[in-house]
Amino acid sequence: MTVIETTLDTNTPDFRANRDAMLARLTDLEAEHAKALAGGGEKYVARHRKRGKLLARERIELLLDPDTPFLELSPLAAWGSDYAVGASLVTGIGVVEGVECLITANDPTVRGGASNPWSLKKALRADDIALANRLPCISLVESGGADLPSQKEIFIPGGAIFRDLTRLSAAGIPTVAVVFGNSTAGGAYIPGMSDHVIMVKERAKVFLGGPPLVKMATGEESDDESLGGAEMHARVSGLADYFAVDEPDALRQARRVVARLNHRKAHADPGPAEPPKYDPEELLGVVPGDLKVPFDPREVIARLVDGSDFDEFKPLYGTSLATGWASLHGYPVGILANAQGVLFSAESQKAAQFIQLANQRDIPLLFLHNTTGYMVGKEYEQGGIIKHGAMMINAVSNSRVPHISVLMGASYGAGHYGMCGRAYDPRFLFAWPSAKSAVMGPQQLAGVLSIVARQSAAAKGLPYDEEGDAALRAMVEQQIESESLPMFLSGRLYDDGVIDPRDTRTVLGLALSAIHTAPYEGARGGFGVFRM
Ligand code: COA
Repeated sequence: MTVIETTLDTNTPDFRANRDAMLARLTDLEAEHAKALAGGGEKYVARHRKRGKLLARERIELLLDPDTPFLELSPLAAWGSDYAVGASLVTGIGVVEGVECLITANDPTVRGGASNPWSLKKALRADDIALANRLPCISLVESGGADLPSQKEIFIPGGAIFRDLTRLSAAGIPTVAVVFGNSTAGGAYIPGMSDHVIMVKERAKVFLGGPPLVKMATGEESDDESLGGAEMHARVSGLADYFAVDEPDALRQARRVVARLNHRKAHADPGPAEPPKYDPEELLGVVPGDLKVPFDPREVIARLVDGSDFDEFKPLYGTSLATGWASLHGYPVGILANAQGVLFSAESQKAAQFIQLANQRDIPLLFLHNTTGYMVGKEYEQGGIIKHGAMMINAVSNSRVPHISVLMGASYGAGHYGMCGRAYDPRFLFAWPSAKSAVMGPQQLAGVLSIVARQSAAAKGLPYDEEGDAALRAMVEQQIESESLPMFLSGRLYDDGVIDPRDTRTVLGLALSAIHTAPYEGARGGFGVFRM
């Protein structure tokens, strides 16, 4: 039998404390998600509705097949910045006429839907996802273009939006623009560079320069409709392929466009799968509130994978990392999960071997993070921990099967890299509210700074200010702690969303399904030099 035997006791005080801590974090998270849903707030939402317009998420809902899920991505983008949570853009994956699509929708209730630096980052991330997974891209457009006060941050890198649209098209990945309102100046190139364009009557405004600018430039008198209205573009310029009488009609026509794309998935749907044997609700109590307390990731795996069935690879070797084979919603996966926090040489070698095996067999990899990094100390340095960590990082970097990362707990130091952190291009990366990620733990970092400062004072022959040191340590610790938290990191687009642990199986199932739209093949060779 390879079904995981649980040892989780849901009646212990520890379990209840863990669960309470997780639920408290989820309540905080919900409050932040609510900010994204509120868009520009009551005043702007009311004004938008008074104009007879649908909100961004209502547009998405009408676009999607009824009763199908929408995997919203990075809803906390811009969290902790001067801009509204959500970054005035909604992105995610949903099913339209049976086709999984990448959908982006400007939120016109937030500063006219203008794009700030975080909106740009979020839009570019959406493009990456569409390209890697071959998902048709549908843009629901209504935007004031660049957020003018922050233009210096977006004008030059923002050109990548239009570059991506044409690269998607060149790769045979369909692009569809549905224009609900303003799409002017640079924004005009969104419909301009999309394969299929739908515009809404008397609402779409697509021109390089509006009437005032035209007047200034050439002296010509004009109006919005003759310069860039839907009717003009449908009848005269030919930029609009389809003329919609209103918003629901535009969304209906977008669905017809997708229905005729003939976009086929590279992999067949694996069909129904056996659910885990254990209740995912119990995931709330697995991760301790204090990440210094270790937990067994097999308890997580048992609540994620089909039938809780897990064939562990090398279970007796490098035991601080659990590796093994399973299926998730019918998709085969290789799982690497940190079991005791620290990665030693044996764990690194085991990981490299496991990643090579997954590549030989064309099996996607799931990384479940709870690591404080690679082991330090004389014994380990002499044992070649750098070489072995490098081997693991090499394997992750050059692996060609799709990767997904989930940050359950700690994800510190180079351990974050070896476990396929954001810079290693996992197809998707999600975090639990319990996750923390930084170059090292806050206490360690503050301690290192203090030692360095002490040595520097000694080298100069100066007395060391112990009181100042304690204050500095406390301040640094607090700063690093707040910068390690998932909302902060999600705000900076370092993940694709902070998720409820109970939703992990569903989220991973949706992600795996999207991934299987594109063909993939593992690396048979092509790794760099493994230092032995
Ligand atoms: N940059 C920064 N702020 C912007 C903005 C932009 N591009 N576009 C709109 N805003 C702000 C407005 O100043 C306003 O702020 P306030 O409510 O605090 O006064 C808020 O967003 C809503 O704008 P408003 O004009 O009241 O909304 P609207 O729905 O009536 O009109 C637009 C929306 C986009 C048509 C209109 O704001 C506009 O024309 N903006 C400039 C468009 C432009 O030329 N962009 C440059 C393209 S590169």
